[in-house]
Amino acid sequence: MPKKRDKDARRTKGAAKASADGGDALVTAPRLTKKELIAELNRDLAKEYSALIQYVQHAAVITGPQYDAIAAELAIHSNEEHQHAISLSNQIDFLGGTPAVDVAQIKVSPSAKSMLEQDLEGELDAIARYKTRIAQAEMLQEYGLRRALEDILIIEEEHARDLQSALDR
Ligand SMILES: [Fe+2]
Ligand SMILES: [Fe+2]
Repeated sequence: MPKKRDKDARRTKGAAKASADGGDALVTAPRLTKKELIAELNRDLAKEYSALIQYVQHAAVITGPQYDAIAAELAIHSNEEHQHAISLSNQIDFLGGTPAVDVAQIKVSPSAKSMLEQDLEGELDAIARYKTRIAQAEMLQEYGLRRALEDILIIEEEHARDLQSALDR
């Protein structure tokens, strides 16, 4: 435990320094190198691939008259996750990295409601990750990447809203 506290103290000190240097907007994003950012983007890419596949499966198997509209929406989400995978792959390549072809965990369920909950959980995770990634792109002055990530974030927020309304939240 003392080890963790030391690490936290160092982080706080670093953040205070960034702030003193005029980097106030950036203190929430942990400092990272371009190589580390590429690794993070490849993890995001694996989650885009898993979201794409998860939506294809959920759209096909979700049943019940109250789910007709959302089933069509899930198929659209799948296409949009595919676009995100293409955008992230291009951005990783522009940064000098190699886009990976890994697929993160895919969640399935026999229950329509829990499928939608699984999808919503994925979207909320994506929203949090892309907010962090936008701050990191900004920190490394990768403004083209930041713009591409902002476009993805807007769509993930729409996806979350579609799922929340289907779940009556
Ligand atoms: Fe996505
Ligand atoms: Fe999404």
